[in-house]
Amino acid sequence: MAELSILLLCACLAVLAMPIYLLSFLGIWEHFCEKFFFPYILEKICETHDRKSKPHKQELFRNLPNFTGASGELRLLEIGTGLGANFQFYPAGCKVTCTDVNLNFQRGLLRNMGKNQHLHYEHFLVAAGEDLHQVPSSSLDAVICTFVLCTVRSVDETLKEVLRVLRPGGAFYFLEHVAADPSSWKYFWQQVCFPTWKLIFCGCCLTREIWKNLEQAKFSELKLKHISIALPWTPIQPHIVGYAVK
Ligand SMILES: C[S@@+](CC[C@H](N)C(=O)[O-])C[C@H]1O[C@@H](n2cnc3c(N)ncnc32)[C@H](O)[C@@H]1O
Repeated sequence: MAELSILLLCACLAVLAMPIYLLSFLGIWEHFCEKFFFPYILEKICETHDRKSKPHKQELFRNLPNFTGASGELRLLEIGTGLGANFQFYPAGCKVTCTDVNLNFQRGLLRNMGKNQHLHYEHFLVAAGEDLHQVPSSSLDAVICTFVLCTVRSVDETLKEVLRVLRPGGAFYFLEHVAADPSSWKYFWQQVCFPTWKLIFCGCCLTREIWKNLEQAKFSELKLKHISIALPWTPIQPHIVGYAVK
């Protein structure tokens, strides 16, 4: 019965979003989404989302300096940097490598770089989290990933790459929205919205149980908390936040 209701509601949403499905069928939407829609929407929702996630990010990144390397420098890489919303939380003087698959965030990214001149921006790589081959193994003290693992093609492959590029004792910081409790209404609505949401928001998956991937990855220590970030009218309230040490 629940499956049937989900299917029917999925179909209703698909009908409402028919123009987007049509553009996708014609091969136009994905290009439009990546180039115009997603950068625009990220700028727009960023303000509310940043405000809501700020206390969690402040708490999360508080111990970043503890992972400073033996050289006295903190070498950090961010996967899916987007507009650079996290720059403000990084400690002064740390060396930042930005990576993203989408080149269309430049305007917002440059603005945030200008606002955060306490950092050394070393490289900007066009790279997917699943393939960081431009980055040498064991070369980083910290890797950051916020609101990206919902979209990567493979969470496991991304975590493998994170473990490769981190030095032993280095840390992986994450804040991600995840699947709700399967017995909840939130999960029901996540399933209903899943296909249309994924299409509209450039591949964002609502029901990933990312904490399981993290538990199974070969980190030596994992600090993970389930939290709720209330974003009204969205199916993305349940989140996980924490860090894992190589
Ligand atoms: C919702 S935005 C989050 C941006 C930023 N991390 C933040 O917290 O504001 C998701 C970002 O992940 C990027 N992305 C999507 N798939 C990716 C992949 N496979 N590897 C790396 N980045 C990816 C997108 O281009 C986008 O910049």
